[in-house]
Amino acid sequence: MPIYILGISAYYHDSAACLLRDGDIVAAVQEERFSRVKGDAAFPTRAVAYCLKAAGISAADLTVVGFYDKPVLKFDRILETYLSVAPAGFRSFALAGPVWLKEKLYLDRQLREALGYRGELLYAEHHESHAASAFFPSPFEEAAILTADGVGEWATASFGTGRDNDIELLRELHWPDSLGLLYAAFTSYLGFKVNSGEYKVMGLAPYGEPKYVDLIYRELVDLREDGSFSLNQKYFNYLTGLTMTNGAFDELFGGPPRLPETPLTQRETDLARSIQVVCEEILLRMARTVHRETALADLCLAGGVALNCVANGRLLREGPFRRIWTQPAAGDAGGALGVAQLIWHRHCGKPRRVIAGKDAMRGAYLGPGFTPEEIERFLQAQGAVYHRPDRPSLLRRVAELLAEEKVVGWFDGRMEFGPRALGARSILADPRSPRMQSQLNLKIKFREGFRPFAPSVLRERVSDYFELDCDSPYMLLVAPVKRQRQIPMTEAQRQLWGIERLNVVRSDVPAVTHVDYSARIQTVSRDTNANFYELIAEFERLTGCAVLVNTSFNVRGEPIVCTPADAYRCFMRTQLDYLVLWPFLLDKAAQPEWKDAADWHTQYQLD
Ligand SMILES: [Fe+2]
Repeated sequence: MPIYILGISAYYHDSAACLLRDGDIVAAVQEERFSRVKGDAAFPTRAVAYCLKAAGISAADLTVVGFYDKPVLKFDRILETYLSVAPAGFRSFALAGPVWLKEKLYLDRQLREALGYRGELLYAEHHESHAASAFFPSPFEEAAILTADGVGEWATASFGTGRDNDIELLRELHWPDSLGLLYAAFTSYLGFKVNSGEYKVMGLAPYGEPKYVDLIYRELVDLREDGSFSLNQKYFNYLTGLTMTNGAFDELFGGPPRLPETPLTQRETDLARSIQVVCEEILLRMARTVHRETALADLCLAGGVALNCVANGRLLREGPFRRIWTQPAAGDAGGALGVAQLIWHRHCGKPRRVIAGKDAMRGAYLGPGFTPEEIERFLQAQGAVYHRPDRPSLLRRVAELLAEEKVVGWFDGRMEFGPRALGARSILADPRSPRMQSQLNLKIKFREGFRPFAPSVLRERVSDYFELDCDSPYMLLVAPVKRQRQIPMTEAQRQLWGIERLNVVRSDVPAVTHVDYSARIQTVSRDTNANFYELIAEFERLTGCAVLVNTSFNVRGEPIVCTPADAYRCFMRTQLDYLVLWPFLLDKAAQPEWKDAADWHTQYQLD
């Protein structure tokens, strides 16, 4: 009987489950994809059910269940007691206290009831789970590890080393000094949602100037040389209140928080740029400290802050490390994978097998997939109009449609684990089109016009388009578009105010070139996603361009689509022109009229 380990992350943000069979990742998925509630924090009942189904087992077959943190330690009473005695700066990694032991019994019962499981239950520290998710699946035999997020139990950042089959955390930074919370405070002040809007702040930053950086250092952040810092609590409200910032913060930055959905002005873009610059500086200093203290050449990253791919790109270019690998599910969902692997390697004492240059994430395609028969059954029940070309014809046809500036929903194989769409649940378009960015934002995704789109490029061709020559399979590195492809702005264009620059054509792949000539790159390899790779190759044969626009298959505020039914619904409710539900092709113009039932998605849920 193989050893089955189930990892669970829940109750804080973006719940998820991950199942290992003898150490191999069988499945990993976020609960939001089933419940259709973005960032769903509920116990991941359906994610667990999917993982068990993928392995063909029941809860009784599980050897161990691991939980990704010790949630009771987040309680304010403990934190505040701790705060009053704690010194600032990086400190020693400490184990949890006796309060945890009492509360553990309660959580044990909850987990057992939810799972119908009687076996062994283990708990990891929050940042240990992040660190494990960063190192164990990485392509490195040994590496330094850096994690940073909002807050776990009380750690907000940690670093250490990974070697063979274990990790060791050396030091950590504690609440309330948190890079994740600092960024979140600005996210909320700028009128975006905490825990998902951080990405928008990062996208907005290049439109602004770093005008507030000095003010942030003078008043808000006491940053030390080693990357540790103290936040001036006079300006924040998250210790005691429900909002992130307070009146003193408003006064410091010259006004109340921006109301969601109101127009963006230069001030917001300048604030976004300023906090992004501060975030990058903190991470660079932390990375130098980690490098100095571990004397290792490679770095693994995880924790919500590691999704800041602009900062990751700078770390790679300017930081001390030779290579960087970031866990694609860097946020709390990835903790489910981390705790499961920690149990396999540390608790079960099993060795790691590293294949040089390859990580163990299988392209992050670890979620539900559907057979052609299942998809066709759905299409027939739906009365959808479709056809099934052979593989070469389908690839050729989709490449042609893209070259004609059609926008295509692309649903193929197992769904991605983590927040990015990587060619399994993606919306694709032609990056050469100067109209594509605003068209996609406004007509398809119903989201803010300023938001940039990411390129997917053939791995072998990445350095022909971008100032980058390494793997970036998870869209977690930002690099400049290659200098020769950039179109310099005229003096008149330079005079345009921030967001007005959006419509200036800045390269020969304008739809994926951000206002500062940067791009958030996904490199695509044949061995992890053959169909997507061949599609881009076909597009290149047709047009000479080895790049496609790749954005997640969803509309604003919704999780990425999971099932064929989710995909069809999104297709019919937006101005997507074509839909691939591999191996089928659907033309919007041929579909019967769409009637949107309120309980629509629940009718076709996975059981
Ligand atoms: Fe976290």
